[in-house]
Amino acid sequence: MELQLTEEHEMIRQAARDFAQNELLPGVIERDEQQQFPAEQIKKLGELGFMGMMVSPEYGGGGMDTISYVLAMEELSKVDASASVVVSVNNSLVCWGLEKFGSEEQKQKYLVPLAKGEMIGAFCLSEPEAGSDATSQRTTAIDKGDHYLLNGNKNWITNGNSASVYLVMAQTDVELGHKGINCLIVEKGMEGFTVGKKEDKMGIRGSDTHSLMFQDVRVPKENRLGDEGFGFKFAMKVLSGGRIGIAAQALGIASGAYELALKYSKERKAFGKEIYKHQEIAFKLADMATEVEAARMLCLKAAWLKDQGKSFDKESAMAKLYASRVANDIAREAVQVHGGYGYVKEYHVERLMRDAKITEIYEGTTEIQKIVISRMLLEE
Ligand code: CAA
Repeated sequence: MELQLTEEHEMIRQAARDFAQNELLPGVIERDEQQQFPAEQIKKLGELGFMGMMVSPEYGGGGMDTISYVLAMEELSKVDASASVVVSVNNSLVCWGLEKFGSEEQKQKYLVPLAKGEMIGAFCLSEPEAGSDATSQRTTAIDKGDHYLLNGNKNWITNGNSASVYLVMAQTDVELGHKGINCLIVEKGMEGFTVGKKEDKMGIRGSDTHSLMFQDVRVPKENRLGDEGFGFKFAMKVLSGGRIGIAAQALGIASGAYELALKYSKERKAFGKEIYKHQEIAFKLADMATEVEAARMLCLKAAWLKDQGKSFDKESAMAKLYASRVANDIAREAVQVHGGYGYVKEYHVERLMRDAKITEIYEGTTEIQKIVISRMLLEE
């Protein structure tokens, strides 16, 4: 792996860092408290090219590589994981999926506005009874000639209300199992499609997570992504790339928590000296810094493999498995370093600790990453 970042990479990282400090930090505590979607901030991120970073300029995107995406995701997530999950889902699940597998008409109609940040996308796989066991789709898309008739419910959908375009997995032919699943592009406003209740979450409270209901929604045939029956493989391929984004989000939460702990430990005095001079705190910081660096390397390796056009399924699962564990460990330790101050909202680390948990759950739980990795090890 070539580890040298280019000047362009450094510029992207700095732009994301500046945006996080100037635009995301003010109000992040209030948005978390009030469960307020960062609409204004997402609009600005779109204008700056962060919503379709890896999409080719031909389709309104930034034409950047996955390494740039990891760098940006880390910086945004250090400050506001609610905003960064919107960026992640739009970039890697929706835009990447449309660019790689969509028809020219689908790209013009949906990818261009999504990549420019004029629209937000959502990825709809999870159901009340199909989370980790994703082949057990109950939502149906019955073939009616020129359209599919879509019926069913989806759960825990990120960008559930703020999105305008939804990639919905549904079963067309039960007999065929996962080979009978299609991915349909559903627009907000299609008759029979309603956005359900907003989840009151432990973390990433600024992002809007909803259930969705589809009742006899007529989805035109031209809105199917890829060939008939490609929906499950589409979801798996897209999630594999998406895991790099969530791994980078977890990395950002970890490095954000570490940086806050380091800063605080240089300021706070106890027993006559700055607390970082106490070995117990110094050793914690040494562990944190090492774990952050290891998580960063795994994220960059998975991104580099993807950019090289090589297989990255195992590495993206490894990056997510490790970075999400580290995010939880480091955020918890950062609260500990802050003592009583860490337990109150003003110091940010309690939010990072709550936000970290979701990285072990969405886009495949910790256990799913282990399934993916161990299966691939057996094949090697
Ligand atoms: N690329 C291409 N094809 C793949 C693939 C990949 N990465 N992974 C699996 N497949 C294919 C398999 O080859 C197989 O095809 P064939 O039958 O033709 O060989 C088919 O898909 C079925 O695969 P499996 O037999 O391995 O299926 P399984 O039932 O054992 O499940 C699983 C595999 C890895 C556990 C999968 O179900 C999974 O990833 N589950 C987790 C789902 C998930 O991540 N959900 C997150 C929701 S989205 C979200 O969270 C977004 C958000 O809001 C932030």
